[in-house]
Amino acid sequence: MNILGIESTCDETGVAVVEGGVKVLKSVVSSSVDLHVKYGGVVPEIAAREQVRVIIPLIELVLSEIPISKIDAIAVSYGPGLIGPLLVGVETAKTLAFAYNKKLIAVNHLVGHIYSSWLEVNTFPKFPLIGLVVSGGHTDLVLIRKHNDFKLLGSTLDDAVGEAFDKVAKKLGLSYPGGPEVEKAASKFQISNDKLQSDVKFPKPMINSKDFNFSFSGIKTSVATYVDKNSSDKNIVAGVSYEFQKSVCDVLVSKTLRAAEKYDAKSIVVGGGVAANNFLHEQFLKSSKVKVYFPNKKYSVDNGAMIASAAFFTKNFVRPLALTAETSLHF
Ligand code: KG4
Ligand code: ZN
Repeated sequence: MNILGIESTCDETGVAVVEGGVKVLKSVVSSSVDLHVKYGGVVPEIAAREQVRVIIPLIELVLSEIPISKIDAIAVSYGPGLIGPLLVGVETAKTLAFAYNKKLIAVNHLVGHIYSSWLEVNTFPKFPLIGLVVSGGHTDLVLIRKHNDFKLLGSTLDDAVGEAFDKVAKKLGLSYPGGPEVEKAASKFQISNDKLQSDVKFPKPMINSKDFNFSFSGIKTSVATYVDKNSSDKNIVAGVSYEFQKSVCDVLVSKTLRAAEKYDAKSIVVGGGVAANNFLHEQFLKSSKVKVYFPNKKYSVDNGAMIASAAFFTKNFVRPLALTAETSLHF
C-alpha cells in the first residue's frame, strides 16, 4: 500500500510517498526556518504564506516520480499545530483525495513523530513500548501497547523541551532554532573541559516526582538569572549550554526509563525535533536496559514520510470533506 503523506503543522512543508509504512519511495521537505530567524521564533502568518507557495510544487515533484495511479491513499497531519499552516495541508489533502477519488487518512502529528522510527530501519521497535515525543511544542511520554493504542502518561506542565532550548539559545545570543546551536556550543565545553565554568549547575525539575509530567520553565529562568549575573563574562556560553543540556537530558532519560520499567516496555522510541540531539542519544544508550530507537536524523524534523507511515499503521480513515484541522490535538 503506497500512501502519500502531507505535513504542514508548523514551519515545514513535507510531502512523501511511503510503501507499506516503512519504505520511503520519495520524501521532500521545504522549511521556512530562514524567514523566521530574525524574529527568534516561528511567525505563523509567514509560515502559512510560504506553505501556500510551495505545497503544490512539492506535490507535483513527488507525483512526477510516483504517478497518482500508484497512490492508494492520501494522509495528512490534521493537528496539533498552527491554524494557518495546518489549513494549507489539510485543505490540500482533502482536495486531492476528493479530486482523485482516493481514501483520506487523518494523522495526529505527535503519532507521526513516533512512527518516524519505523522508516528505513533494519529492526522495528517492539511492543509494549514507551514513546517520548520531544519537539518545539510538545514533551509527551506515552505508553504504546500495540499499533494505534496510545496512553498518555505525562506531559510538560509549562514549556516544551524544544521551546526551552530555543529560549536558552536566545538568552545566550545564539540563533534560532536554538536546539542545534545549544548542542554545538555544549560540545565545545566538553572538548575544552573549561574548569572555570564547572561551578554552573542547573536544577533538574521534577526528576524525582512520582508522576510522568515535566516542567522546563524553571530551568529556563535559572539559566536567565545566571546569564544576567555573569553578563560581563563572554566565556559562559559553552558551560551554560552544556549544563542546561545535561539537566534537561537527565530529566528526560530518568523519567522515560522509569516509565519503561513500570510498564515492562520492550523498547523506547524517541521522536520529535529534539530527538536529533546527540547528547540525548548518548545518555539514553548509556543508561537504558531496553533498546532505544531514534529516527534517522532526516526524519526527526517534521516531514511527510512519518505521516504516511503513521497513516499505514493507524488507518484512521475519514470522509474527505468532513476533516477539519485541530490546533490542540493530544495523544
Ligand atoms: O518536531 P520539530 O521539528 O517541530 C515541532 O513539531 O515543534 O521540533 C523543533 C524543535 C525546536 O525547538 C528545535 O530547537 C529543536 O526541535 N531541536 C533540537 C535539536 N534540533 C532541533 N533541540 C536540541 N538539540 C538538537 N540537536
Ligand atoms: Zn513536530
